[in-house]
Amino acid sequence: MTIKAYRAELLSVPEDPLQGGTVRHHADGLLLVENGLVIAFGDHPDLAPRFTDVPVERIDGLIVPGFVDCHVHYPQTDRIAAHGEQLLEWLERHIFPAEAAFADRAHADGVAAFFLDELLRNGTTSALVFATVHAGSVDALFEAALKRNMRIVSGKVLMDRGPETLRDDVADGRADSEALIARWRGRGRLGYAVTPRFALTSSDAQLASAGDLVAAHPDVLMHTHLAENAGECAAVAERFPDARDYLDVYDRFGLVGPRSVFAHCIHMDDPAMARMAEAGAGIAFCPTSNFFLGSGLFDLARAGACGVKTGIGTDIGAGTSFSILSTLGEAYKVCQLRGTSLDPFRALYLATAGGAKVLGLSDRIGGLQPGQEADFIVLDGKATPLLARRMAGASLHDRLFGLQVLGDDRAIARTYVAGELAWSRDAPIPILRF
Ligand code: GUN
Ligand code: ZN
Repeated sequence: MTIKAYRAELLSVPEDPLQGGTVRHHADGLLLVENGLVIAFGDHPDLAPRFTDVPVERIDGLIVPGFVDCHVHYPQTDRIAAHGEQLLEWLERHIFPAEAAFADRAHADGVAAFFLDELLRNGTTSALVFATVHAGSVDALFEAALKRNMRIVSGKVLMDRGPETLRDDVADGRADSEALIARWRGRGRLGYAVTPRFALTSSDAQLASAGDLVAAHPDVLMHTHLAENAGECAAVAERFPDARDYLDVYDRFGLVGPRSVFAHCIHMDDPAMARMAEAGAGIAFCPTSNFFLGSGLFDLARAGACGVKTGIGTDIGAGTSFSILSTLGEAYKVCQLRGTSLDPFRALYLATAGGAKVLGLSDRIGGLQPGQEADFIVLDGKATPLLARRMAGASLHDRLFGLQVLGDDRAIARTYVAGELAWSRDAPIPILRF
């Protein structure tokens, strides 16, 4: 296997700045990749003498790790920007009918392909993805992800209390999940997540069965929603009057542990956050979705102070953008409204290595450290006239913040997956043909 070398400005934040993690920045850097893995990341003058035989490609732009989207629904791609209502009514009116269409495998294949290409176009190389209740919706996504060699974690949605058109039962939900785990285990860069939609759409028996699945398979994640919207929280409190709080509902069924990822976590008190930290569970912070559904303001500073690992989610289709850059701009505004501030380097951490940690993938992705997989993107600080003007002469901190507030898919010049160019803005025809 040949070594590839890229000379560019390099930036990575492999550890949480809140816990003393430092920013790795090389103004004139060299990134070396062999067999899909990073073998060196550092200053060009230091590294170049060690690799004199390797041809070097010069790249104009800022190389950072590929983004990790910790919570997104691929079947909701075509219902993004659906007008009106908060969560429960929005699900009934817009989302459940759209998801029912995924009983058709050909429909699922078409949406999965568009969705993954859209991730790549936005610089997202890994994601934890909701499918639908249909096992075929997972097969469609995994097949498409395998072709693109992307790191995708997903699972069949468990929902035996869903609408009639979109419902499983405890036994089928369990059997389908087991079959999918067996079918996809160890293939490509894929992973499985046991995925009860949320407490309201599963019976107690199904929540218990989900807990059993997680316990039986040490290599799978658990992925669900928690404490997102006022109407949802009221309905959960009414159905589970004996539970201490919403988190406790999941805890009683063995669903709160180090492999658990909870989207949102807005309406939670300090003891619940402390329990999350104690369990080692992770949070997907989804600011554009939380604004769109009027759900509320996630308290990122408190999650950090409690030591709860946190990543960023677009939560398409309640979320309003596939762009993690835009999502970081909105995360900044949530923090402003909370009276705190989100530093752009910590924001980059959350969107890369922080997300990898939430997905249990820190050893493989997120930091561009030697030995990690070479998923990286090229950010273009001159992507628009306004960006170019704002960036001129600015510090790294200022440029990164400018990209998060003003940037979007236009600022993603290239996306590399496991060392291979998977998308380029300069050649909008897909680089990899599927
Ligand atoms: N809670 C349960 N299902 C969903 C969903 O599809 N989207 C969001 N944002 N929240 C949910
Ligand atoms: Zn969601």
